Order: sequence, then structure tokens, then C-alpha cells
Amino acid sequence: MQDARISRRAVLMGAGAAAAWLGSPARALLQAGGGLAVPAFVDPLISRMTLDEKAGQLQLMAAAWGGGAALTLNPPGGGSDFDQQVNEARQGQLTGVFNGNGAKMARIMQTAAVQGSRLKIPLIFAADIIHGHRTIFPVPLAEVASFEPELARRTAAAAAFEASGAGVDWTFSPMVDVARDQRWGRGVEGGGEDPLLGRLFAAARVQGFQGADLRSNEHMLACIKHFAAYGAPESGLDYNAVDMSQRRLREVYLQPYKAGFDAGALSAMASFNEINGIPSTGNRWLMTDLLRGEWGFRGFVVSDYTGDEEMIAGGYAKDERDAARLAFLAGVDMSMQSGLYRKYLPELVRGGAVPEARLNESVRRVLAMKAMLGLFDDPFRRIDEKREAARSMLPATRALAREAGRRAIVLLKNDGDLLPLPRSGRRIALIGPFGAGPHDLVGPWVVYGDDHKAVDLATGIGGALADASSLVVAPGSGIEQPLAGGVDQAVAAARAADIVILAIGESFDMSGEAQSRTEIVVPPPQQRLAEAIAAVGKPMVVVLKHGRALALEGAVADAPAILATWFLGTETGNSIADVLFGAASPSGRLPASFPWQSGQEPYYYAHKPTGRPNPPGDLQPYKAHFRGIPNSARYPFGHGLTYGQIEYSGLTLSSPTMPRNGRIELSATIANRGRRAAEEVAQLYIHDRVASVTRPVRELKAFRKIALAPGQSETVRFTLTPADLAFYGLQDHLTVEPGTFEVWIAPSAEAEGLHGSFELIA
Ligand code: NOJ
Repeated sequence: MQDARISRRAVLMGAGAAAAWLGSPARALLQAGGGLAVPAFVDPLISRMTLDEKAGQLQLMAAAWGGGAALTLNPPGGGSDFDQQVNEARQGQLTGVFNGNGAKMARIMQTAAVQGSRLKIPLIFAADIIHGHRTIFPVPLAEVASFEPELARRTAAAAAFEASGAGVDWTFSPMVDVARDQRWGRGVEGGGEDPLLGRLFAAARVQGFQGADLRSNEHMLACIKHFAAYGAPESGLDYNAVDMSQRRLREVYLQPYKAGFDAGALSAMASFNEINGIPSTGNRWLMTDLLRGEWGFRGFVVSDYTGDEEMIAGGYAKDERDAARLAFLAGVDMSMQSGLYRKYLPELVRGGAVPEARLNESVRRVLAMKAMLGLFDDPFRRIDEKREAARSMLPATRALAREAGRRAIVLLKNDGDLLPLPRSGRRIALIGPFGAGPHDLVGPWVVYGDDHKAVDLATGIGGALADASSLVVAPGSGIEQPLAGGVDQAVAAARAADIVILAIGESFDMSGEAQSRTEIVVPPPQQRLAEAIAAVGKPMVVVLKHGRALALEGAVADAPAILATWFLGTETGNSIADVLFGAASPSGRLPASFPWQSGQEPYYYAHKPTGRPNPPGDLQPYKAHFRGIPNSARYPFGHGLTYGQIEYSGLTLSSPTMPRNGRIELSATIANRGRRAAEEVAQLYIHDRVASVTRPVRELKAFRKIALAPGQSETVRFTLTPADLAFYGLQDHLTVEPGTFEVWIAPSAEAEGLHGSFELIA
């Protein structure tokens, strides 16, 4: 094969114009966050394109030469083998491919496009870089538990550095769907149950992926998905319908998408679900009126995988042609994987069902985006096999994964200060299916990561102990099936040990896409193992593996110490060992409430009040509660302990009233009375006491994460303005109403913390 680098500039149509654009004011505007600018060469190029070539620019396919786990995550559709797909690139029938096999594959395909196709338009290469490329970071939900958006920005930037070295121009990330029902499996990819956290992490991740200049070969285009409200399917069943008021949509579910676009994301993915009877992929109000009209989005929208075609089974489109027409006219610029756009758009235009000007508009968006990514200037800018290898799993990236992992861990319970454990002088039994072995480490939605390159818990603990021989490992059970003789062997190991670490929970594929559960519990064989081990009576630390909040039961819930450790990626064992043995103090907080029982789902802290609340304490007749369980979460949103001893005191409000155009300053003192360093997340919640539409019992408005040495105290300060008190009123417009507002500065959404109130005056 000829070296594409030598001749690439010479063969590029419009390369001169593209180069001129690079220094233009339009580009400067882009970098200042001004949206998508269309370089001058794009329209003349469009005028030379056939209808088939235009439709080809709007057709994205799964790479026939898929990388890593791509084949199981996305079975390649369209029926093309690699040679056929290369030929499609040559024929201008493809805008790009996703989840391909690295720089080598990209080079072959890009060469076909820029040397072999009539107009030499470069391909775009996409991939699901959800929580890392080769170095895998904690699953997104776990990172949110850090309550540190800056950490997510850093891991997204590190993922972009690795992936863009491997030929990836565009990531299908961040997923920012608010998830309030833990039965749904894809909450693991997102930002949890709260819109404020969701907004902050959406923006941080976009900034991390995209950096300051999209042309940089260390960054890539971000994609906000799944637009919209994919996280609210009925009964938590993935792909199910969503039916929701405008108020809830705008106040909660739309918030993180908007934040992602405001942070500069220039692509969006349509969600599979319908909203109020209209599938997102065919929803003109959503994709055009709201997204482009109201929000001013200037990028392009891609369908989800065969999302256009699925409107047929979904009862919205009568056939393929109709599905292509509905999706395209709704405002979905690009079709993923169904092949419907390249198959039907030309004839839809010829038959007058789709105006050619509308087709040109979508093509313009896609070509402008390719220009912004620097692909017209150098189609191979991210394709370099040497750079791919040189950037893969560098020590600094792994160190970041270890740091992110330990900051994502949440200490749910620590009775009698069982944790941290001593590094020497104790025999430890590590029991449970997640103690050892190269499985369930990198977690769900990983295309290119590898469990075999990740550190398991046994290795992490062994490295932390003064004498690794004081550790004994016994699986005790399979994940969903018992292990013959496993419990007996594990009980014997527990008897011979001083301390038990029980590593139990969900496998990587019990959460993620299409993984909904009706019972969000530790699987029964593992629960039986836990009961047997607890009966031995040794101090027991439960280390949970999970992609969602769980309903803990029996001996698991009763264990004196419980760590929520999610899926932490490449450095799993090291991150957990850092926390178990006190090299780091746990500092994560729950981004999703752990209910008492599965039947409480959807459970979220910011629920509405009822006219019959159950007062604190015993359950009372004819009050709102479920039989037999407290009227709360077992571990609410925001909960997380430290190795310190944290005290809140001295809530101060700068005034008992807030004028309509004024503000209120709030402060409190947070002290660490313990003997170990700690990091506390002080959370500011409000409740609007009486309003023209009822308001949630609490809403998070701000938080501060502070580090406190033993004996240290610090004053945390917050400011509230009327904008923080606004809600969508009767007409679904933002409104602020005078009246009483309660405030809390508290360590979780359901802790009393410090409580006060003020009046907003007209
Ligand atoms: C389907 C998933 O819903 C989406 O999140 C993903 O980006 C695409 N498949 C492509 O893999």
C-alpha cells in the first residue's frame, strides 16, 4: 500500500481553502465556544456532490474490522466485511465508522477515502470511549461519587489522549442521562440521580474530551447522549417508553444535556426511547425546536444504533423509507448503523419528500465538523500506529486511574472504626467471587480495555500488606451460581483468619445496556455465602462491586464495615487497598440513593412531599410508607463516611430575608474531631415551603469538598441567589415565588445537618 502521508495534502480537494480557514476569525470564534463555523470551502464542495454522496456523508456504520469487545457490544450490521467497507469508503457511501480496530484499520480506510474516493472527503472515526480507552478509569457513576468534576475532566482528557492516539476523532460520550430508578442498568454510565451533579460532570467531561482546540490530536469530539430522558424508562426497563411532564423534563432530565452543550459539545446522540408518545429519533420538537431553536445548538445529531429503523417496531414509522424520512426531518442529521439514510435519502429528495436544501444543511454540519476536527487539513492527524502504542497505558495514566478509583469509593458504614485495617499482624481471608482473577475489573461499556491488564483485589491487598502471606483467598461462590464446596472452604478460611474481607456484588454485565433488574440485591448464592461467613463471627468488611445502588440485606447490611467500590477499572485492587489500609481516607459520596428494598424504586432524595407524610420515627397508619421499612433510603444520596470524625456547627445566614434581586450568604463550620485526616463534602440543600406547584422535599444547590487534618476545622461558605430558587411554574416557564425557603448544610440529602430558613421577599 502507498504511504498515505506522502500525498495526502496533494490529493485533498479544497485543501487550500481549508488551510486558509485555519487562520480565519471564524475559527477563533469556534475556539471561544461560538459553535460550529462553516469554512468557505464547504458549500462549493457540497455543490459538487451527488445525492448519493451527500447521503453517504450522513451514514455511520460499525467498523467491520471491530476492535476489542466491539463485536459483542455492537454486532456489525449492514452485512459488509472489511474489504466491502473499504470499498464503501472509496464509493463515498460512508461518513465514517465506529469502534474500529485502532490506527492500523483507520489508516487503511482513511487512505481509501482520501485517495480513492471521487471527492476525497476524509472519514471520521468514532468509538465508545466511555471510561477510558486502554487504561480504564472508574465507571462514570463511580467517578461522580467523588463529587469532584475536575477529576472527571482529568480522566476524560487522559482517555482522549490515549484514544486520539489510536485514531479516534469522536467519542460517544459523555452519557449524561439522569437515572432515578436503580433497576435500569445504564445508570452506571451516567451522573446519578441529581441534576446539579449531572450538569457539573457533563460539562467537565466535555471539557476533558474536547480540550481547548478540537484540531489537537490529543483531543476528540464529545457526544452528549442519549437525548433525551433515556434514563427514565417506565419500570426501569431499558429501551422502554418515557412519559413525563414538561416541568420534570426541564427541571431534571434536560439539565445535564444542556450543560454539556453549553460546555461546547458539538454532537448529540438521539435516545432510543419515546417521550410522551414520540420516539426521540423522530421527535421534531426535541431535535429541532428545543435543541436548535431554544438552545441554539450548532453541532450535529446522530441516531443511536439503528434507532431510526427501530421506529418501525416502535409503532411510529410504517417502513424503512418512512423511518428515514421521519428521523431526518425531525432533525437527526446522521444515521448510525441501519443504513437507511444512504439507502433512502436520495430517493426521498428526488421524490420531494425531503427538500434538498435540508439535506445540504445536514451535510454542511458534518463537513464543518470534520473541518473543525482538522481532518481536511490532515486526515491522518490522529492516525499513527507508533503514537498509539506510545500513549497506551502510561504510568501517569495508570496513576490517575488509581487516584480516581480511590476517590470514587464510598464508605457506607464503619462501626467501631473497623477500617482502616492494619497492614501487619493480622491474618486476612479475602472471600467472594470478586476477590481474585482477571474478571469484572474494567466494568461495563469497555471496548478496548482488558481485565488481564487490570489489578485485582487480591493483588492490590497483597501489595499493601507487610507480609503478603498473611492473605488467604477463597471465592466461596460464583456470581450467580453456587460453587461446589465453595461455602465450606470459605468458612474454613474465615475461621483461620482474624479479619474477613468479603468481595461480593454484581458482575460487569448485570448493569450496562439492556441490563435491567427487578431485584437490585446481592445475588442469592453470594448472599448465602455472606450469611455463612458472618456466622463465623470474625470482623467482616464488605467490599461491594456494583453498577448501581443496591438494596443490601441480612448479613451484608449488618456487616460492621461496608465499602461501595463500583467498577474501578485498571487499578481496581490498588485503589481499594489504598482505602482499606488507610493510605487514603475514603472521600466519595453516593450519587444515587441505596434503598432499603428493591420495591422502593424509583427512589430518589428529591421526591415530592405528600399530604400524609410519616413523621420521623415509627410508621403510622394512613401515612405514606411501605409496610415494614423506614420511609427513607438506607443510604441516601450524598452519604459517605470518612476515617475522621466530622462535626457540623454554626449555621449562619447573612440575613433572614433575600430581596428579589439580592442574595444570601450561608456558612457553617466543619470540624474533624477525629485522629485521622478526612475529606468532607458539605452539601447545601433547599426546600421551597409553599409554591404554586409543589416542590421537592430537598434540592441540592451547591457543595464543597474540603480536606481536614485531625483537629482542623474550616468554615464553608455558600451563596444563594433568586436564580437558585427558580422552578418551572404553571406555564412551564422559569419563575421565582416569594415565600419561605428552608435550607440545610448537611452531610447527605437525608441527614438533618444544620437547618435554617429565610424569606424571599417580593
Ligand atoms: C448503543 C448505545 O445505546 C450507545 O450508547 C452507543 O454509543 C452505541 N450503541 C454505539 O456503540
